[in-house]
Order: sequence, then structure tokens, then C-alpha cells
Amino acid sequence: MEGGWPSGGSFLLCLTVNLLLPGRSNTFTINCSGFDRHGVDPTVFQTIFNQKDFRPVINYSIPTQVNISFTLSAILDVDAQLQLLTSFLWLKMIWTNPFISWDPEKCGAFSKLTVTTENLWLPDIFIVESMDVDQTPEGLSAYVTNDGHIVYNKPMRVTSICSLDIFYFPFDQQNCTLTFSSFLYTVENMLLGMEKEVWEIADTSRDIVRTQGEWELLGINKATPKMSVGSSLFDQIMFYVAIRRRPSLYIINLLVPSSFLISIDALSFYLPAESENRAPFKITLLLGYNVFLLMMNKLLPASGTPLISVYFALCLSLMVVSLMETIFITYLLHMATTQPPPMPPWLYSLLFLCTSPGKCCPVALWNENTGPGLMSTHLPGLKEPGQLVGKELGSREAELNGGSGLTSTQLADLWVQFSHMMDTFLFRLYLIFLASSIITVIILWNT
Ligand SMILES: *[C@@H]1O[C@H](CO)[C@@H](O)[C@H](O)[C@H]1NC(C)=O
Ligand SMILES: *[C@@H]1O[C@H](CO)[C@@H](O)[C@H](O)[C@H]1NC(C)=O
Ligand SMILES: *[C@@H]1O[C@H](CO)[C@@H](O)[C@H](O)[C@H]1NC(C)=O
Ligand SMILES: *[C@@H]1O[C@H](CO)[C@@H](O)[C@H](O)[C@H]1NC(C)=O
Repeated sequence: MEGGWPSGGSFLLCLTVNLLLPGRSNTFTINCSGFDRHGVDPTVFQTIFNQKDFRPVINYSIPTQVNISFTLSAILDVDAQLQLLTSFLWLKMIWTNPFISWDPEKCGAFSKLTVTTENLWLPDIFIVESMDVDQTPEGLSAYVTNDGHIVYNKPMRVTSICSLDIFYFPFDQQNCTLTFSSFLYTVENMLLGMEKEVWEIADTSRDIVRTQGEWELLGINKATPKMSVGSSLFDQIMFYVAIRRRPSLYIINLLVPSSFLISIDALSFYLPAESENRAPFKITLLLGYNVFLLMMNKLLPASGTPLISVYFALCLSLMVVSLMETIFITYLLHMATTQPPPMPPWLYSLLFLCTSPGKCCPVALWNENTGPGLMSTHLPGLKEPGQLVGKELGSREAELNGGSGLTSTQLADLWVQFSHMMDTFLFRLYLIFLASSIITVIILWNT
């Protein structure tokens, strides 16, 4: 026999009742006459209440079947740093106490009663992943039906451990497990069953989840593997709770501003390279982006490296690279206008190749041959560049090939033209890199 001797004489009483009952019937009928006139007589339940320390079965070889279900009523918190999911649920357990039964026809047709749970044996079902002590409120009651079923509902605030993967933040889904198992009873003593189907649990939970917060319940699945600890085997039911983050807050606060800043950075290439404004403009943008990152840092998960952080780092580096490009072009232009060094012949031929129509090389867009373009303003203090390129290139090429030097003004113009060509070329490289990284990030988010 499980347990020990019951306190008091209840066991003897029970045994006596047992022996007196004709044919040793397995049903212990409660005499409920008078319940409809004088209320419940506590003495007829006393035997059952005295037995509450023991598992209520007639033959101890028979395991108690406990059927469970739950309703997830709120998802309170998902902590990526501690890897915890805090949820609130109503746990429902049903089991049978064979010592309780009465005939409702003799008792004013009532078929269920509430009994405080302190007077009843309760199954010790707990959640394996739970990282918090059970905070079940005291003084709860359970329904007892006339055929001995006990229906016990209890509210639980569950802080359970859950392996969270925030790589796809803010478009992430999480799959958290809630495993219900008995703390003490092995499969010989307790079996777990489902009180209702798992899709019913998912449907009622979806209807009932009150929180319109960050997380949305996607669905619930179950598995029922047995858990073996040493030589004992425990019955358990695992529920997989799938939840999804609502991303709109993060799209509005993180992705949209970031995209605006990076597109303004791309657009700033259209500021003329000769004007003094481009570099300060880019520095301001860089500063703005840093302030944005500082302010929005608290919205990002506190641990791990989500893809969005990589994206932000990429945007920041692109801004730095574009600032460096501007510095380089400004340097080239400055060199061209003050003391242009002699141009190597290969550079000159490249320049000539690219300025001639029908070639795919990047072309300095202020060239008249290619129509209107980016840098339509002319350098102050420089000669008309279009005229130079369009008309005199041929003759100058001949001059250069023949080994004769150029005048310093012509050389300066060539260097200016080269700078613009480099600017356009680097701008296209920047655009290609920006586009490919954004496409990569979007593809990764969609998988
Ligand atoms: C049930 O209890 C009443 C008194 O409360 C008694 O008169 C009646 O005989 C009892 N019935 C049985 C079957 O023991
Ligand atoms: C208790 O149950 C076991 C297995 O079901 C059975 O072999 C045994 O005879 C039962 N004992 C009594 C006293 O009924
Ligand atoms: C528990 O569920 C099983 C099957 O789902 C059913 O046979 C059994 O009667 C249920 N037990 C209770 C106490 O509801
Ligand atoms: C959650 O994970 C379990 C295994 O870890 C898997 O069986 C189940 O299908 C997953 N559920 C969802 C919705 O991805």
C-alpha cells in the first residue's frame, strides 16, 4: 500500500464500512437525504475529507487518470536576455475519486457540489519549464460531481524557460514548450490525459488572450513522450506554444527612419562635388544616424545579434564609406585646381575611352556629349569643360602620344574630369552594394 496509516480512525471506519457493505461494492454511496432541506451534512463527507492525504483509489495497482487542459489567457512578457516567457494560464484538471458518489434523484436533483481544495487530494501536476515557485492563490474550490469526478480549475502565472531565437527580430516567431508532469507519481500511479483536444485549447486561448501587446498566439501543438528519470518513468504532456511578434512598432520606429536616413545619404551624391556642402551634409547625416541608434537602442533585444543590428551596422558603415568617398573626391578636385601632377598615359587613354560615346564606362555627367546629368554646375575659375572635352580631345591625344606636354589648364581640366568620373563610378558601386545588402536582408527576413 502506498503511503502510511491514515491519521485517526478513518481507515478503520472505512474498513468497517467496507466490510458492512454487501458484496464489497466499489461505490461508496453518500447518504444525501436531507441535503435539499437542511443543506449539506458535513459528517457524511468527513470520511472522504479524512482520506485526502492519500491517492483516492480502491486498488492501489490502478493508476489515477488525470485529464488536463489549459487556457492561455495572456502573454505577459518575453525576456530575450533571460530566455524567459511569462504567461498566465488557467489550468483545468479532472480526475475521479471513487469514494464519492451519490444518487441525485434522492437528493433534490443536484449533481455537483463545490468543496474547498484543502479537503481534497490534489494531483501534483507542475510545469517542468517553470522557473518560479507556484503562486496558486489559497482557498480555491473544486467541483465534485455525483459520479465522483473532481474538476479543479486554477489560475497560474507561469514564468517558464524558453529557448528564444532573436536572429529574425522583429519578424521572429518563438516556439515555447510547457510540459505538464507529475512531480512524484510514476506511470504506475498516475497517467495524464487530455481533457479536450489541443485545437480546442488553441482556439479558446486565441479568443481569450486579452493582451493586444507585442505577442500574438499562433497555435498550440502537443506531444506525449514519457520521461524517464533513472528507473522510473513519468507520464507527461508537452504543449508547444507558438507565438509571433507584432512587428509594426519596430517597423515604424526602427526601419522607416533608418531607411530614410540611408536614402538621403544616397541622394547626397547628387550634391555637386565642387560645392563645399557635400561633406558637412554627410557628417550631419552620420551624426543624426548615431543619435537615432542611441535613442532606439532600448527597443532592440538586450542579448544576441539580430539581423537588424547587422543591418544598422551596415547602414552606418555605408555612411562612413560615402563620407570617405567625398573626402577623396574633394582631395582630387583640390589637387586638380591647385597643382595638377602629370597624368599617366594609361589614365589619359582610359579617360578618352570613357568620354567617347557608346562606351559603358562611367562618364562624368557634366560632359555635353552625354546630355544633362549630375554635375551640371561648372567649376568656378575653370574653363568650360565641355568645350575642352568635346572638341580638343583628339588633338590633345595626338599631342600626348607624341610625347609633348599639356598646358597646366588643360591638365587641370583633365584631372577635374577624372575626379567626376571617379565620383560617378564610386557612387554606382555604393548603390550596387546598398541594393544588394538590402535585398539580402529582406530575403533573410522572409525565410
Ligand atoms: C440516510 O440518513 C438519514 C438521516 O439523515 C437516515 O434516516 C436514512 O436511513 C439514511 N439512509 C441510509 C440508506 O443509510
Ligand atoms: C488490483 O488490481 C490488480 C491489477 O489490476 C489485480 O491483479 C488485483 O487482483 C487487484 N486487487 C484486488 C484486491 O482487487
Ligand atoms: C480522461 O480522458 C479519457 C480519454 O480521453 C477518458 O476515457 C476518461 O474518462 C477521462 N477521465 C476523466 C476523469 O474525465
Ligand atoms: C515547436 O518545436 C517542436 C520541437 O521542438 C516541434 O515539434 C513543433 O512542431 C514546433 N512547433 C512549431 C509551431 O513550430
